[in-house]
Amino acid sequence: MPEPLYHDPAFASLYDARNGEGVRDRADFAFVRRFAGDADSVLDLGCGTGELAASLAAAGDAGAREVWGLDPAEAMLAVARARPGGDRVRWVRGDAAALALPRRFDLICMTGHAFQCLLAPKDRAAMLEGAARHLARGGRLVLDTRNPLRRAWEGWTPANTGHRPLPGVRAWVETREEGDLVRYDTVLVERGAERRATARLAFPPREEVEEAARRAGLAVRAVHGDWHGSPWTPQSPEIVLVAGRPAPS
Ligand SMILES: C[S@@+](CC[C@H](N)C(=O)[O-])C[C@H]1O[C@@H](n2cnc3c(N)ncnc32)[C@H](O)[C@@H]1O
Repeated sequence: MPEPLYHDPAFASLYDARNGEGVRDRADFAFVRRFAGDADSVLDLGCGTGELAASLAAAGDAGAREVWGLDPAEAMLAVARARPGGDRVRWVRGDAAALALPRRFDLICMTGHAFQCLLAPKDRAAMLEGAARHLARGGRLVLDTRNPLRRAWEGWTPANTGHRPLPGVRAWVETREEGDLVRYDTVLVERGAERRATARLAFPPREEVEEAARRAGLAVRAVHGDWHGSPWTPQSPEIVLVAGRPAPS
């Protein structure tokens, strides 16, 4: 069962407006689009409402690129299927920690911190093992997770996060630590009616992510500190992992 934030159609339908679709170009999407290069096949894990997957399908050479988008939340996939170009992507309802698809991919990506929705270390390890099994020869995996050393969640207060995703709708986030996880409640107010949806996030450290990737049989090619390709430092906002299948010896 996905976290309520992604399972509730009222919140899923506002995801794109809340994340600035059509208003700002997301650095993670720009990086992945460049990185996709001439990849003939792409798998977008935790694809959400499908903006990236649909744009990757549209950018493929004369529509020849095969793009799959996988997400456990039907409400998010419903938005993805209905978007322009959504018919060019193969949408799959599924769990990135239990991958069993009938083909391999040149590029597997996981953006928008979907990796942090994998709450337990064993789920993150299983996702990386699944990615290793589904990469084609020479294929690449790229994913992001927020650097826990920056403790970004401490800034996710109602005052800092308040915004109007659509005219007449107010939204903000209320956050608290819950053991190793960060729980945040998104609050929407429309015409005086309030709705809330919870999601929890893990903040695994760089060492865990790299070690789990190696254990999964992946070769770590780079760890960037942001989606502009900066070198990682303890102050970096992100951990952007680029990994591949090791060359056969
Ligand atoms: C913050 S959204 C990111 C969506 C999209 N990748 C983007 O960049 O806008 C996180 C997504 O991860 C999905 N998710 C949660 N648990 C997952 C899992 N076990 N496997 C794959 N995706 C998952 C959620 O349903 C949600 O659509």
